Amino acid sequence: MYQRNREIAAIHALEILDSRGNPTVRVYITLVGGIVESASVPSGASTGENEAVELRDGDRQRYGGKGVQKVVATINNVIEPRLRGIDVMRQAEIDRLLIDLDGTPNKARLGANTILGVSMAAAGAAAVAAELPLYSYLGGLGARRLPMPMMNVLNGGKHADNNVDFQEFMIVPIGAPRFSEALRYGAETFHALKALLEKKGYSTAVGDEGGFAPSLPSNETACELLVAAIEAAGYRPGQDIALALDPAATSFYANQVYDLTKSGQGPKTSAELTGLYDAWIAKFPIVSIEDGLAETDWEGFRAQTALLGDRIQVVGDDIYVTNTKYIRRGIAEQSTNAVLIKLNQIGTVTETIEAIELCRAAKWRFVISHRSAETEDTFMADFAVAMSGGQIKTGSLCRGERIAKYNRLLEIEAELGTAALFTNPYATGGALADSSRKRRL
Ligand code: PGA
Ligand code: ZN
Repeated sequence: MYQRNREIAAIHALEILDSRGNPTVRVYITLVGGIVESASVPSGASTGENEAVELRDGDRQRYGGKGVQKVVATINNVIEPRLRGIDVMRQAEIDRLLIDLDGTPNKARLGANTILGVSMAAAGAAAVAAELPLYSYLGGLGARRLPMPMMNVLNGGKHADNNVDFQEFMIVPIGAPRFSEALRYGAETFHALKALLEKKGYSTAVGDEGGFAPSLPSNETACELLVAAIEAAGYRPGQDIALALDPAATSFYANQVYDLTKSGQGPKTSAELTGLYDAWIAKFPIVSIEDGLAETDWEGFRAQTALLGDRIQVVGDDIYVTNTKYIRRGIAEQSTNAVLIKLNQIGTVTETIEAIELCRAAKWRFVISHRSAETEDTFMADFAVAMSGGQIKTGSLCRGERIAKYNRLLEIEAELGTAALFTNPYATGGALADSSRKRRL
């Protein structure tokens, strides 16, 4: 039913800072009825080659070239006149208009950051106009599953200035009965890890996503420390809290070789790296490995999934960049069995939902994810509940931009009350469990 109140009256963009202190864009949409909603765009560091283009000014005199004044001008002068007067609830139409206005396959002309800000702000304004929380507006009556948080408590790779090659070592509170308890398990383990690092004389400074970033004797030591921290916090590794990894292997791959230079552990082939994960899975309670191999190593991924896919969740991030074109190939080739979903890799809410629909149709799991540079925006927390995938990756248990998402999820859990669902997504028979999986994790 059409309502004039819901027409877009004005769009206004602002250059703000992200959690790394670099510029990003915030977009405000005003509706005829007076509603004003905003959304802020995140930014990655270990970006996939095929991600939609993030546009920056390139003017070295401002923010080392990272300013987004052109993005702001495009939104205010090019996009606003085209979207004014449209019913903000027509999300797919708005996103289509933005894609057509850009006219390139990878949003290189207007910028994915430009487009995503408008797309998310439109969804936010539409939810307010509909008088619904964002997760219900986007997900309907079925949107009541709180996601399992994959909490990145130890950082390496491109997210930290230490000697750990792998980017993310996460704890996953699979035994928690509800989201708020999962968060508590995580926070208590985070503090236990801090005490452990202090005791061993390691640094407790944190990386981009709030995880500790100590220099360690080896990559494997990170897993050992996490298990010790879980125990020190009074939890059972593998039953209450499991581990997950995101090596972000593209970041240490060149000329067909995985070179673990940060740790000095040297070069490895694709098969050797998969062998290393295989050995780790036997030793540590690992339930998920994301980007264990590089974005171009399709053959390696297929072999890895064939070897490990019945024991763990094999997630593709850089290889798919939330793009249906690559996810479709991955499904056809059985490259992984799950997909990482990042709104800014593709650039519109509608296309992100299309990527998720593809996962659902293939009975693949998916994880809604933040970026290493975030803002206080909590869109993705609502989005994770709306999409009902049961998993979210939004960083460690400190740093405001990460905690904002967790706090929003706590609010949603409280609002849903007894309707809230929360399950271990890796257990056979769980919400998204694949019936072909051979054993319980
Ligand atoms: P990024 O890292 O945001 O720096 O790309 C996150 C990830 O690899 O999952
Ligand atoms: Zn990743």
